[in-house]
Amino acid sequence: MLISVIGTGYVGLITGVCLAKVGNSVCCYDKQESIIKSLRNKKATIYEDMLDENLFQLVGQNLSFSSDINDEFLQQSDVIFVAVGTPMSDDGSANLSYLFDSVKSLAQIIKPEAILVIKSTVPVGTCDQVEKLLHNIGRQDVSVVSNPEFLREGSAINDFMYPDRIVVGIENNKPQKTLEKLYSPFIGESCSLLVVNRKTSELIKYASNAFLSTKIAFINQISDYCEKIGADIEGVAKGMGLDPRVGSLFLKPGPGYGGSCFPKDTAALAYLGQQASTPLTIIESVIKANDLRKKESLLIKLKNHYTENLKDKKVAILGLTFKENTDDVRYSPAIDFVRCLLSEGALVQAHDPMGIQNFKQLFPEVKYNNDVNKVFDMADIVCLLTPWPEYKKINFRGVQKEHKGKIFIDYRNYLTEDHVNQAGFKYIGIGKQYD
Ligand code: UGA
Repeated sequence: MLISVIGTGYVGLITGVCLAKVGNSVCCYDKQESIIKSLRNKKATIYEDMLDENLFQLVGQNLSFSSDINDEFLQQSDVIFVAVGTPMSDDGSANLSYLFDSVKSLAQIIKPEAILVIKSTVPVGTCDQVEKLLHNIGRQDVSVVSNPEFLREGSAINDFMYPDRIVVGIENNKPQKTLEKLYSPFIGESCSLLVVNRKTSELIKYASNAFLSTKIAFINQISDYCEKIGADIEGVAKGMGLDPRVGSLFLKPGPGYGGSCFPKDTAALAYLGQQASTPLTIIESVIKANDLRKKESLLIKLKNHYTENLKDKKVAILGLTFKENTDDVRYSPAIDFVRCLLSEGALVQAHDPMGIQNFKQLFPEVKYNNDVNKVFDMADIVCLLTPWPEYKKINFRGVQKEHKGKIFIDYRNYLTEDHVNQAGFKYIGIGKQYD
């Protein structure tokens, strides 16, 4: 099957790579020539486990890249995936201009009876609008399918190759056989193909991300309550998670959720609810709670344990990305926290294994260091925000200075008190009382 993918962001690139991995001929398109140039040279433009290795294997075989959407490959493609960005507008709604621009261009060139698969996360009803647009241009022959993606940054290739479900939204049976065939290598005992109507499919994606965000916001509030009353959030989460109706995943307290998906998708769903005069008040509360956590609560916690004025105090941040194993800092809690610290006059120094380049563009005034041991030197306060595996390997006993009287706040409960205390720090985790 000839497959084209429009957009080489996280979703587009991983879709292209994985569909090529199972033997399809795939070409991925992007307007940005620098991205295409790099990918043609087998060099990924995003950091993702196993991506470079896969590009090395597949580029020059059955995977190619192009910035020319008028080329022959696209014109002959049976299935065209659209995976362009749908960023958050100021009012929370999803900005669909890239999507509609792409569809307008594609309508001029794709072959008769082609299948247009919308992979971008889009508001309910978008596929209907795409179909209407195509009809207006005289392309009634094209089938429009909704096929949301559930991969996570950091484990994207694995998530695509071994999904727990593949959701396909269609309005008639015409494209179903082709999609079943395309996805057959991924379907097995632990993954089924769920065929629903397009609006249902579009909502499955938003509702899934909103539900996961709700779990995180919920456990974070319970964690705050634990700190007040002397319970231990680790035990509470474990006890809750043993009930299969609750489930143990996504119950880790932390500095608040970030990334390119949860903040954008919860805002978009809340907006859609308002538009439909069905306010989704639970999701609205989740957004508020998460914002408050990132913009105020992290600093309040620090001030509860460090009562001196923060002006000219050295605060070391461990972890700038919104989670581990990615270089992505979009909506990362570190952004709001560093902004708060700087506004208090603190001197911020930071380490991150992958995210420094991206963070530096937002905060050139922060002092960055690639050597995690160096960020401890002179620090009055250390704050761990991202659970990078290398932080477990820090040799606190070997930290040069004695940090007696200084504090280490672990906003992820990632390290242990015994480990950190070796350098003389006072360790403070979350969701538990510390004197
Ligand atoms: C999320 C979803 O998990 C994917 O299923 C979905 O496909 C993707 O969004 C998307 O819409 O494209 P992702 O944003 O890559 O994936 O990251 P997650 O691993 O879900 O983490 C999101 C945020 O929640 C991070 O800031 C993470 O640190 C935080 N988190 C996660 C917690 O604070 N606690 C947890 O228990 C789990």
